[in-house]
Amino acid sequence: MSDFVYQENIVPYTRAELVAKVAANLSESRFEHCLRVEATAIQLAQKNGADVERAAIAGLVHDYAKQLPDETFIEAIKTQGFDPELLNYGNAIWHGVVGAYFIERDLEIHDETILNAVRRHTIGAPEMTLIDQILFVADFVEPGRNFPGAEAARETAMADLAAGVRYEILNTLTFLIQGKKQIYPKTIDTYNAWVPTQAK
Ligand SMILES: [Fe+2]
Ligand SMILES: [Fe+2]
Repeated sequence: MSDFVYQENIVPYTRAELVAKVAANLSESRFEHCLRVEATAIQLAQKNGADVERAAIAGLVHDYAKQLPDETFIEAIKTQGFDPELLNYGNAIWHGVVGAYFIERDLEIHDETILNAVRRHTIGAPEMTLIDQILFVADFVEPGRNFPGAEAARETAMADLAAGVRYEILNTLTFLIQGKKQIYPKTIDTYNAWVPTQAK
């Protein structure tokens, strides 16, 4: 997707400049994941009639904060008005919900559609915009993912975006429960809104 050109003035950078900023904050493998999520988000946006540029930017920056130290997140949670309940969780939740704060601050992205998609990419939400759904699913099915069921998830998502969202929520919850992991309450809200009623 190196030929993708930003035209909507959503960010004060060219794509190459934004790519360089994201790369500087991440390991090589995490950065490459971001490029694959960007490409997958573009594909899903085209298929679903969504704003391709917003989807692309959300995909590229979504894990920007993933490798910041815990202390940096804790400091931001305490000083930037986040729900203190977040302190009971960790990077897996923080890099989305709190990561959007760093993306706005460091990358000068003030677009709420993009920031919300980043906030929701780790936990989903009962109501998700098209861009939220695209990022959520692109992160899960990008071609580097090879968990059991990845191919089925990919096919489901490419055929029907909302079905891809439901597939991912069910899969993630199942994984967390089987591993006896703590579940962030909003993740359960996401599950209740998407899976039981829609799967009937
Ligand atoms: Fe992430
Ligand atoms: Fe990711």
